[in-house]
Amino acid sequence: MTPEMIAKAKENAAKGNYGNVEFRLGEIEKLPVDRDSVDVVISNCVINLSPDKRTVFQEAFRTLKPGGRLMVSDIVLLKELPEGIKDSVEAYVGCLSGAIMKAEYMEALKAAGFQEVRVLDETSFPVDCMANDPTAQAVIQDFNMSPEQVNEIAGSVASMNVQAVKPI
Ligand SMILES: C[S@@+](CC[C@H](N)C(=O)[O-])C[C@H]1O[C@@H](n2cnc3c(N)ncnc32)[C@H](O)[C@@H]1O
Repeated sequence: MTPEMIAKAKENAAKGNYGNVEFRLGEIEKLPVDRDSVDVVISNCVINLSPDKRTVFQEAFRTLKPGGRLMVSDIVLLKELPEGIKDSVEAYVGCLSGAIMKAEYMEALKAAGFQEVRVLDETSFPVDCMANDPTAQAVIQDFNMSPEQVNEIAGSVASMNVQAVKPI
């Protein structure tokens, strides 16, 4: 996250006359938010980019009020990616190589103290999405992948929505 992103967000909020929003510069592993202070934590496709997902979930837990809810959408792996892909910068930017196994993700949420951890929705990564995504295309070209290999990678990746609750 960068100061430019915050400036842009503030500009857009002013344009839309949104007086009930606030933007803080920070990192997901160290939220600039007091403990037990928020009702809901949401995130879309950011946690998969963090190298320290356990700390991310601990931070979400710390900042939520007792009884508060977490609702995140993220990319996870159903099968391990081939070694080369894991190390690829393009795959990281494309949210592939930062992703961890689904079971590990769910376990990390529970280890942070969350309860009622539930997957609400899960979609496998569509192959046509890889065909249209420039970072996925860069990965395909870098690794000179066959259509079968592209299918295999797509079948290893899923997008899921997860809900969890901080106990009272
Ligand atoms: C795939 S985008 C998703 C953005 C937004 N949530 C959305 O739905 O459009 C990932 C975003 O995560 C931010 N990001 C990556 N690592 C982060 C971290 N450790 N802490 C905070 N933000 C991070 C990046 O700057 C980028 O804006």
